Amino acid sequence: MSKTNSETLVAYFSRTGEQYGVGVINEGNTSIVAKIIAEKTGADLFEIKVVDDNYPDTYSALIQYAKKEKQENARPEIIGKVDNIKKYKNIFIGYPNWWGDMPMPVHTFIENHKLTDKNIYNFCTHEGSGGIKSDDFAIYGHIAQTDKDLTERQISQWLKRLGF
Ligand SMILES: Cc1cc2nc3c(=O)[nH]c(=O)nc-3n(C[C@H](O)[C@H](O)[C@H](O)COP(=O)(O)O)c2cc1C
Repeated sequence: MSKTNSETLVAYFSRTGEQYGVGVINEGNTSIVAKIIAEKTGADLFEIKVVDDNYPDTYSALIQYAKKEKQENARPEIIGKVDNIKKYKNIFIGYPNWWGDMPMPVHTFIENHKLTDKNIYNFCTHEGSGGIKSDDFAIYGHIAQTDKDLTERQISQWLKRLGF
């Protein structure tokens, strides 16, 4: 049974469509991880989505699009804000590694919300480079996509280390 814990939020950005090493997916790798964390901690979920979603569905086009967005240090507008961010003590922020950085909409999310005085826990999916931030929990995207047991085990170990 999942716990209820309205002091904790999991905010994440993730893409469906064609992703590296996994083909066309219906649920993003980071999304899978985000939902497991939310389930295990009883957290609320917030998906970071852009207002004008022009991200291509094919991997090769997506990496070019994202590269340009990073080079421009863009801040794509995102849909909505977290309702009553004040009530959250713990915020998990999840993203795929895009060109060694967080996707630009995640930068928008962080800048749009007052996150001081919160416990921030970052998690990242990737395909070889690892996490973005030194304290990232990092997991291969294809592992999250294809090996639920291993993914759950690694997440549980991380959450335990954090004291959840
Ligand atoms: C635009 C783009 C850039 C990427 N850059 C990297 C990278 O620099 N290093 C890496 O290990 N993986 C990189 N990847 C692979 C993703 O991090 C990986 O497939 C991730 O699990 C995708 O997560 P998602 O399904 O939640 O969107 C990149 C993928 C995309 C689409």
